[in-house]
Amino acid sequence: MAVRVYVEFAAKNAFTAVKRRDLIIVVDVLRCSSSIVSAFANGVKAVIPTETLKEAYELREQRADHLLAGERKGRKLKGFDLGNSPLEFVQEVVEGRTVIMTTTSGTAALVRCRRAEHVLVGAFLNAEAAAKKAAEIAQRNGVNVSFVLAGEKGLFPLEDFLCAGAIASKFPTARFNFSDEALAAVLGFERVKDALSEYVKKSRHARHLTELGFERDIEFSCKLNHFGLVPVYRDGKVTLMR
Ligand code: MLT
Repeated sequence: MAVRVYVEFAAKNAFTAVKRRDLIIVVDVLRCSSSIVSAFANGVKAVIPTETLKEAYELREQRADHLLAGERKGRKLKGFDLGNSPLEFVQEVVEGRTVIMTTTSGTAALVRCRRAEHVLVGAFLNAEAAAKKAAEIAQRNGVNVSFVLAGEKGLFPLEDFLCAGAIASKFPTARFNFSDEALAAVLGFERVKDALSEYVKKSRHARHLTELGFERDIEFSCKLNHFGLVPVYRDGKVTLMR
């Protein structure tokens, strides 16, 4: 049977995908999922996402050897080792370490998917690898695929939508059946893929990040298929699936 592909436009709709028992690809290109992919490319052992700051601080109290990373309003927080810039997760800092991470929308989106059996982290950085892995798992297990876009405050996130399109464009179309939303994401991505960062920079969140001085994060997050790895969220932890 064909694999159906859905797109949920906001993290608050994650439960719909969980209820359908879909394989879920969580996308928060700017910047949570790009930071997670970058962290694994630089040898991080695991990432523990938390929804709230309180949980992150409490976890750190219990595990002083873990690094604490994330943001609120885009900025690194008091007592944190790292912010939420994918460029901060360098080998010298993260290799072999576990990172507790809390961000405004991205980690909250992941946590909302905790009851799903298969949850992958998708970004432009690992689009092709994520598509391949998702297609394999979905076909093997006879489940459908949902993209859960993190966005912010329930608003439509252009950058995440284009990323869903980048990933979905790599699915074997003969065996995949796209919802209108998924098809629109692919069409959108195909239209802008040759000038990806230019269009992503026009998005609401990218303009906010540019104001904060994080333009390099946007450029980096738009590097298509830069890494061939797929982080997986299971049992409260993100680890690597090669
Ligand atoms: C988030 O999770 O809300 C984002 O990653 C925010 C950011 O750009 O730092």
